[in-house]
Amino acid sequence: MHIESTNTEQTNEVLPSIKKRWSPREFDYTKKISQENLQLLFEAACWAPSANNEQPWNFIVVTKDEPEQFNKMIAILKEGNKLWASTASALILTVASLRSSYNNSENFHALYDLGASVANLTLQATELNIYVHQMGGFYHDKAEKVFQLSENSKSVSVIAVGYLPEDENFEARKEELLSKRRRKSLDEFVFRNNWGNPFFNINDFQKN
Ligand SMILES: Cc1cc2nc3c(=O)[nH]c(=O)nc-3n(C[C@H](O)[C@H](O)[C@H](O)COP(=O)(O)O)c2cc1C
Repeated sequence: MHIESTNTEQTNEVLPSIKKRWSPREFDYTKKISQENLQLLFEAACWAPSANNEQPWNFIVVTKDEPEQFNKMIAILKEGNKLWASTASALILTVASLRSSYNNSENFHALYDLGASVANLTLQATELNIYVHQMGGFYHDKAEKVFQLSENSKSVSVIAVGYLPEDENFEARKEELLSKRRRKSLDEFVFRNNWGNPFFNINDFQKN
């Protein structure tokens, strides 16, 4: 039993930006994102919680305004991502600082915290009608070399950011894509007291 994206009862009440967000594979390549809006995205990111308040997130941003730099980011992507990601207005390499700033020990939660900051960024973007598509499909070694990451930093994802195309055909494609989105139902991943024992009764969902 999976949750469909098109408003099953039990997901009706989540925050509007959570419902609105999705990961497009095409953007309006003519549009730029203003400095102000980019700043808002990273301010949202920085208010995420993190273990020991380490804030182990870092972001390298390239925009369409600097095609040479933009293409450097495209060049580190795996083939399947290159074409559509080129339509984004900005690309962001996310980087985790792997060591604690207090005692240089391994920060087990660095990737977790980076993910939380990206979730904040993504929801802030959605509020601004900006869409985000995260990618794991890129060459980490290449990224770390090309963008000269410091020691104990790990490239984790590349994020494409942009505006949706406005043509009518896109609307039809979008509807089709959205109708195919699926989520596990809560009984598959929320457990009561012990692993595997669903917290919620699936019949409760159907009654609502
Ligand atoms: C860490 C991470 C890596 C991902 N890697 C890719 C990728 O390389 N290429 C791609 O097209 N989508 C990628 N995605 C997007 C997911 O496929 C997408 O989020 C998922 O199918 C759910 O769809 P939705 O974001 O529209 O809800 C990635 C998402 C995350 C969070």
